[in-house]
Amino acid sequence: MAPSKFSANNIKTIKHSAMVANAARMIALRTNGIIDSDMAYMCGIFHDIGKLDLDESEKYKHPLIGYQMMIENGDKTIAEVCISHPFVTPYRTNYLECYCGNDTETLEIILDVLSTLTITPLIRLIQFCDKISGVDKYMSIEDKFEWYRNKYNTTSNLIETNFDAYMEIKKEIEEYIKDDVYKIVFN
Ligand SMILES: [Fe+2]
Repeated sequence: MAPSKFSANNIKTIKHSAMVANAARMIALRTNGIIDSDMAYMCGIFHDIGKLDLDESEKYKHPLIGYQMMIENGDKTIAEVCISHPFVTPYRTNYLECYCGNDTETLEIILDVLSTLTITPLIRLIQFCDKISGVDKYMSIEDKFEWYRNKYNTTSNLIETNFDAYMEIKKEIEEYIKDDVYKIVFN
């Protein structure tokens, strides 16, 4: 039998995407139609599609690659989720500089697309679900950031700015669902 081309990293990406999709669907179902639950599910499934078969050193390109793949496929809404899912802060430029390093070409294309986007409740929902979803378990934003602080042994501005940004999304979602979002996902 020929060895499978399907890498362990791809399997992790797909498991994570399924977790994002399930969380996004469960939450969207509680938003009284503000967020379409089928679309939320699809966006969860595809948000990291740009990561499949990508070299570790090029992982930073995955939001853009996913965007281009989904645009080519005619799925504009999903494409916009792909490109926006890691960029939650108002300090997007700083964050992108960390993310893209010296690859100014990719940086400029991403910034260009982001500048044309309307940030919708669906985009915010996938950003949130991405952060609470691991490969095989969910974790609260609070616990996830505590994990980052321990991992990097620091409380950096970027970590804290992002923590605040994710907590803001949590607040927005809880205004739609009028409930504790963790209660819905962690049950
Ligand atoms: Fe991603």
